[in-house]
Amino acid sequence: MKVLVIGKGGREHALVWKLAQSPRVERVYCAPGNAGTAQDGVNVDIAAGDIERLVRFARREGIGLTVVGPEEPLALGIVDEFQRAGLRIFGPPRAAAELEASKVFAKELMRQADIPTAEFRVFDHPDPARKYIETREYPLVVKADGLASGKGAIVCSTREEALAAVDLIMVKEAFGAAGRRVVIEKRLEGEEVSIMALVAGRTLVPLPPTQDYKQALDGDRGPNTGGMGAYCPVPAVTPDLLRAIETTILIPTVHAMHNAKRPFKGVLYAGLMLTAQGPRVLEFNVRLGDPETQPVLMRLKTDLLDLLEAVVDDRLHEFPEDKLLWDERPAVCVVVASEGYPGTYHKGRTITGLDEVARVSDVKVFHAGTRRSDSKIVTDGGRVLGVTALGDNFALARARAYQAVHMLEFAGMYYRKDIAERAVRRSQEASASDM
Ligand code: AMP
Ligand code: GLY
Repeated sequence: MKVLVIGKGGREHALVWKLAQSPRVERVYCAPGNAGTAQDGVNVDIAAGDIERLVRFARREGIGLTVVGPEEPLALGIVDEFQRAGLRIFGPPRAAAELEASKVFAKELMRQADIPTAEFRVFDHPDPARKYIETREYPLVVKADGLASGKGAIVCSTREEALAAVDLIMVKEAFGAAGRRVVIEKRLEGEEVSIMALVAGRTLVPLPPTQDYKQALDGDRGPNTGGMGAYCPVPAVTPDLLRAIETTILIPTVHAMHNAKRPFKGVLYAGLMLTAQGPRVLEFNVRLGDPETQPVLMRLKTDLLDLLEAVVDDRLHEFPEDKLLWDERPAVCVVVASEGYPGTYHKGRTITGLDEVARVSDVKVFHAGTRRSDSKIVTDGGRVLGVTALGDNFALARARAYQAVHMLEFAGMYYRKDIAERAVRRSQEASASDM
């Protein structure tokens, strides 16, 4: 079968790499892809949002399955268009993608369905938003309603910061039309985890928990990014906690979407805060996370094509959670970014060391913002590479990932130095208390 992956980041490179390992896959295309997807598959020069051309390409090439990485084409209705053209595609239809495309929609759905999330209010004018902020005693988070590449949520410590956030989103329109409405919610304290689950009809199969590092700088400081690193699994999420998340959050959300006549299909991703009162939803995504997908797929042993087809064809019940095979070892992914990201940064910087790292076992460098320029591979985005490693324990996986990072170089390269530190500490504490 020929398969098409849509997108150009680390998540898409991981999908291309994993799908190419399936014995039933004849060729994996990636549109538009990056220098890494061109090594493990074949790039097609069509933008992820150009649905018409993507449909034409899939028809002409006889693509048996298309897999959508990013949220934008989902929100534009790519799944509906492919299905109309009689093409098989993995992802939710536009109506269900609203769960990610509108934070207002998601928060109201959660309120109606009694799904645990932070208290909130919605505003479509800056004045009432400011008045509301003046009356609040606790720290707040101000969020643009629409899509903003993970950067539209501003976590505020003071009233002044919250007022400035309203100004940035609603008056200066930093995120364009996405900021026409804002959600203002209570700031929650705790550890963050990402829970992704495959969903088809009434069947839901959770994937192992991951933890993402949203802030740009060590110690969770600096602005929010798309994600600076991730690891899988998460010691803090015990099997019991995962069951509780399934029954109080994931399943009620799938039911609520069904009742709202927006049946969900694809990957449901819940970004959660583990508070002292229990898990609370920070956001929903309607696709695989990036970089979370990189450590997850590094550990997956089951054929990914079989799994994705089971979702598309409504046969997911054939894959109960215990039938999925995972590498026992944890995986750690360190994102290597361009200095300046999530703000402005340079492109076109030559990357060295990739061939050397390719020879290291249990390490895979997934490309994100890269492209080929003559015989070189150069930077082409804010997040450049996702250096992903397996190890017998978290300390070893982490050490291996950073060893590989140290072999790579480009001008203005930067990365967080504390990815998975927490997991190392947790797992060491856990094994000490076992003794
Ligand atoms: P979102 O786009 O809603 O997931 O928000 C992006 C990031 O902002 C989250 O991953 C959290 O790190 C942070 N965040 C969002 N909402 C809250 C909240 N209510 N309390 C604390 N942090 C939050
Ligand atoms: N890493 C967060 C996301 O994919 O939205």
